[in-house]
Amino acid sequence: MIQLASRRAAAHISQQWRCKNHLPHRKTAAAATFSTLKTTTPQACTPSLAPLGKYADPSRYLQPHPNNNITPHIASLVGRDLHLRPSHPIGIIRSKIQEYFASLSTSSTADGTTYKIFDAEDPIVTTQQCFDDLRIPPDHPGRAPSDTYYITDTKLLRTHTSAHQSQHLRSGVDAFLCCGDVYRRDEIDATHYPAFHQMEGVKLMSTEAMIGANGLNEEEWLQSPECQLIEADLKATLEGLMDHLFGPTKKRWNEDFFPFTQPSFELEIYHNDEWMEVLGCGVIHEQVLYLSNRSDRRGWAFGLGLERLAMILFKIPDIRLFWTEDERFHRQFKEGKIVEFQPYSKFPPVFKDIAFWTSDKHTTSDNFVENDFFDIVRSTAGDLVERIELIDSFTHPKTGRSSRCYRISYRSMDRNLTNEEIDELQFKVRDETSTLGCQLR
Ligand code: PHE
Repeated sequence: MIQLASRRAAAHISQQWRCKNHLPHRKTAAAATFSTLKTTTPQACTPSLAPLGKYADPSRYLQPHPNNNITPHIASLVGRDLHLRPSHPIGIIRSKIQEYFASLSTSSTADGTTYKIFDAEDPIVTTQQCFDDLRIPPDHPGRAPSDTYYITDTKLLRTHTSAHQSQHLRSGVDAFLCCGDVYRRDEIDATHYPAFHQMEGVKLMSTEAMIGANGLNEEEWLQSPECQLIEADLKATLEGLMDHLFGPTKKRWNEDFFPFTQPSFELEIYHNDEWMEVLGCGVIHEQVLYLSNRSDRRGWAFGLGLERLAMILFKIPDIRLFWTEDERFHRQFKEGKIVEFQPYSKFPPVFKDIAFWTSDKHTTSDNFVENDFFDIVRSTAGDLVERIELIDSFTHPKTGRSSRCYRISYRSMDRNLTNEEIDELQFKVRDETSTLGCQLR
């Protein structure tokens, strides 16, 4: 179970930029759905008791644009700034990573690189920043409204911290770390939440170290000692980071693909008897540097998910816990300390099934987008939803209509749920699901 969860969390970190794991782009019914959802239930938006950051203003996100697919639940998460809370596991991991990179500039093997720290950028970015500057083509599945939260057709909630790479490179920064909350429409289970945190790292090499690479074509560049030097520096830096976080650890590198790096890699560490992917990285694609007016330089970039590392290091079993305001969670953590989380409760889950035809009765063609359904459940029940599983699907042999049945597990992390309250939520979920053009069974 844990093994499966970990593998899936790994996929979460970087699945968006690979072609695998993706359904082809389909037109979403989101616009219709989300306008009805804006009268959300109290469960969906638990008010934060901690001080809110400067981006905590739902009206920035819930705008009456036809392409806006942001739910009040999502809008209520922006600006919570978990990464800036010094005693929150996400904040603790952020500091540990920053501490490691700071130590690189003073250690005996230091190359004098100082990483500039960014951790308060606006999570609203443009399609240019998030995709075009990074060579992510317009038809890439990761850009589809089924996967991404759009505010307007050109403004969105960043789906990765790589969205800030080009602006910092363009402004002349040569090495930086950039941390923040990112948003992706995705499945619902213990390791997937529509908001999570990433740390991006970028380093450009000195011009002198790259002199030999002048005038090489792409093929020659990839074979050159200079490109290999960047790769070696990247790998050594990240291996050092893993040892800093986990103690000496077995690691392995796999080839990967991202449109903005070439070559690209993923790093896996051996933890609790299994290999787990912890980050994606690579040598920055020359075109990304060109688009940032930095064609004269070469370097590397990486991106890692903080929840993933925190779940492993603190043994936190459910990703929703990071968002709780429960004192029994928060009092366990202190600035600078990695401790094992002690579960304070495990209340029983309540299961409810929902079955529907994915089109109405007059047509066999449907526009059903699974993430629209997941967002409906999340918007209605907030963090009481623990998991949604597809337990059955079939196409009727005569009518050709498709049917799906999902099992929703409701479970509070803090208290017992009553059957009545869950019946009421499930009733609302059923109502909202029919606005997707589905016919309940
Ligand atoms: N942005 C990538 C992701 O979210 C990770 C990455 C960052 C990969 C930088 C390469 C370089 O999956």
